[in-house]
Amino acid sequence: MIDIKTQYAGLTLRNPLIVGSSGLTNKAERNKEFEKAGAGAIVLKSLFEEQIEMQSEILMQDSDYPEAADYIRGYVKANQVNDYIELIKKSKELCTIPIIASINCYKADAWIDFAKQIELAGADALELNVFFLETEIGQDFNEIRDLYVNIIRKVKETVSIPVILKIGKNFSNIPDLVNTLKVNGADGVVLFNRFYQPDIDINNMQLVSGNVFSSHSDLSDTIRWTAIISGKIPGISIASSTGIHDWEDVIKCLLAGASAVQMCSAVYTHGSEIISQVLTCIEEWMHQTHYHSISQFCGKLNYANISNPAVYERSQFMKYFSNRD
Ligand SMILES: Cc1cc2nc3c(=O)[nH]c(=O)nc-3n(C[C@H](O)[C@H](O)[C@H](O)COP(=O)(O)O)c2cc1C
Repeated sequence: MIDIKTQYAGLTLRNPLIVGSSGLTNKAERNKEFEKAGAGAIVLKSLFEEQIEMQSEILMQDSDYPEAADYIRGYVKANQVNDYIELIKKSKELCTIPIIASINCYKADAWIDFAKQIELAGADALELNVFFLETEIGQDFNEIRDLYVNIIRKVKETVSIPVILKIGKNFSNIPDLVNTLKVNGADGVVLFNRFYQPDIDINNMQLVSGNVFSSHSDLSDTIRWTAIISGKIPGISIASSTGIHDWEDVIKCLLAGASAVQMCSAVYTHGSEIISQVLTCIEEWMHQTHYHSISQFCGKLNYANISNPAVYERSQFMKYFSNRD
């Protein structure tokens, strides 16, 4: 008998496949479809800190960028905070799998009180997508770390549901950041968020949006850091995210040490059917490899057994690149 249940950030999921936060998850009825397709949990579309603080007018007055102000005005109008609470309540009414709310934030501020409303609405956990791009020359990393620490501490003081941090991969020391988050109460981390991808239109001389969807080539970093964090920082749940497009990708992330994975681009591309296909293949693989539960192989290939992963990575680099003419 194969059991694909997993423990993630204090939640028991019937399987490790989570539908990631996106436009896919902003309707309760569609979330029910994902549940029917087999999803283990759902992360709702993010609510933005700016929406919660209802500061759109102030933002617009202060903004040096009229286009950005217009965008915020439109977004705030279309995504009212009350609607979000209703989305949580309705998703909880229709679904039995865990519903994880999501807030996109960049400072520890008044929006944090809203986390309590999210909990009261029935969300099983809260995922915080801290969107902060370091662009200031000379900015001290300690300031950035303090920002994360302030956010996690204040949210943990406010709610008792699990709190998960979704981080980007552009940090000089990801393990140090994750360890700091763990020490300050984070129940899990999502590795990684995928930032907006800029591109340049050389005909119209404009900065434009690149592909919103990830590709397979994005998976390597996800595997690398899942394996390192899982090996170095036991006791914090990891959901791998970015570049997971098929069942083999899911198995790779579990072997690297994730207890769950998030899929977004693949669900946009193939529809909810991909969820059941992936789950069927995982069970088939477990059957063939004689694993009866996820815990039997989760983290089997993380970096805990490699004394110095940096040296391992360096020797692989030398092997593959130094010998090429
Ligand atoms: C159209 C679209 C909308 C998204 N909206 C959100 C969002 O509201 N909040 C969030 O945390 N991530 C959002 N994401 C990022 C995804 O949750 C995910 O982190 C990213 O797409 C990488 O995963 P993937 O490789 O499976 O696509 C969005 C992604 C896409 C493609």
